[in-house]
Amino acid sequence: MGRMITPHPSRPAAPARTVRKAVVPAAGLGTRFLPATKATPKEMLPVVDKPAIQYVVEEAAAAGLDDVLMVTGRHKRAIEDHFDHAFELEQALAAKGDTVRLDAVRDPARLASIHHIRQGDPLGLGHAVLCARRHVGDEPFAVLLGDDLVDPRETLLSRMLDVRDRRLGSVVALLEVPPEQIHRYGCAAVEPTGEEDVVRVTGLVEKPDPEHAPSRYAVIGRYVLDPAVFGVLERTAPGRGGEDQLTDALQELAAGGTVHGVVFKGLRHDTGDKADYLRTVVRLACDRPDLGPEFVSWLKEFVAELDGARPTHHRDIAA
Ligand code: G1P
Repeated sequence: MGRMITPHPSRPAAPARTVRKAVVPAAGLGTRFLPATKATPKEMLPVVDKPAIQYVVEEAAAAGLDDVLMVTGRHKRAIEDHFDHAFELEQALAAKGDTVRLDAVRDPARLASIHHIRQGDPLGLGHAVLCARRHVGDEPFAVLLGDDLVDPRETLLSRMLDVRDRRLGSVVALLEVPPEQIHRYGCAAVEPTGEEDVVRVTGLVEKPDPEHAPSRYAVIGRYVLDPAVFGVLERTAPGRGGEDQLTDALQELAAGGTVHGVVFKGLRHDTGDKADYLRTVVRLACDRPDLGPEFVSWLKEFVAELDGARPTHHRDIAA
């Protein structure tokens, strides 16, 4: 704990904030990705060439949060190792003079001061957040869920931290989704505040049926929480699916008028299930300056093949 962090050379210094800590729940069983997640946490699945959880920690660090607590489950070791030094690997790369790969290996360990705690029984997101109580203490803190990757060019978390600093209480990230998708998310009832992208959250419901949803505003996996949430989580009964739901605790805080929402209109990638994950990998690969140009031209050809505009390779062979 408390070791010095070298800022990433390519990242501009973030403004000083009252929120310093981020909590990253990473204890899910990853059942949607079996068998890949049999012995590997789903948070470690690569998105292009970085594990998904690294994008999340990079986002926290870019918003100035230099203390990150991972709430892990049974696969703690791989996550711990990823954000630690790898002396043998570093020595081998240094001996070869391979500075590019050496940086890639060192980067995760210098993003932030990373801490780990085990959730024990996976009782739900509310329980995972409650496990962070001792580490977080009596301070506001951010929670970032790994299934949502906010595009690195976006500044959603910084905006949420600004709103917390000005309005206090807790802040959720909201995304307008088509009504048929709202059942996949927490959903917020909202009122305007006069600030275009900020709403007051008057109620929250976890994964409602479309006909009972109070709005089309889905809660996406970024939160800035007041420490008051811990006391509420302690007494919140299990909710939907028999799990301790963070949404239910936030509903109580929202009823007291202390929750705001930042309406996000930017780019977010979902890695929650296989199809979403594949879309995310393809999109981020297209955006990469080193891979993108070649990959995009291959992708265009491949799509043309799928459309039947050109004979596919195996059709050629069959002919
Ligand atoms: C969790 C939250 C839900 C939120 C979602 C965002 O659900 O419980 O309120 O909308 O994350 O990704 P999960 O996707 O973990 O079931």
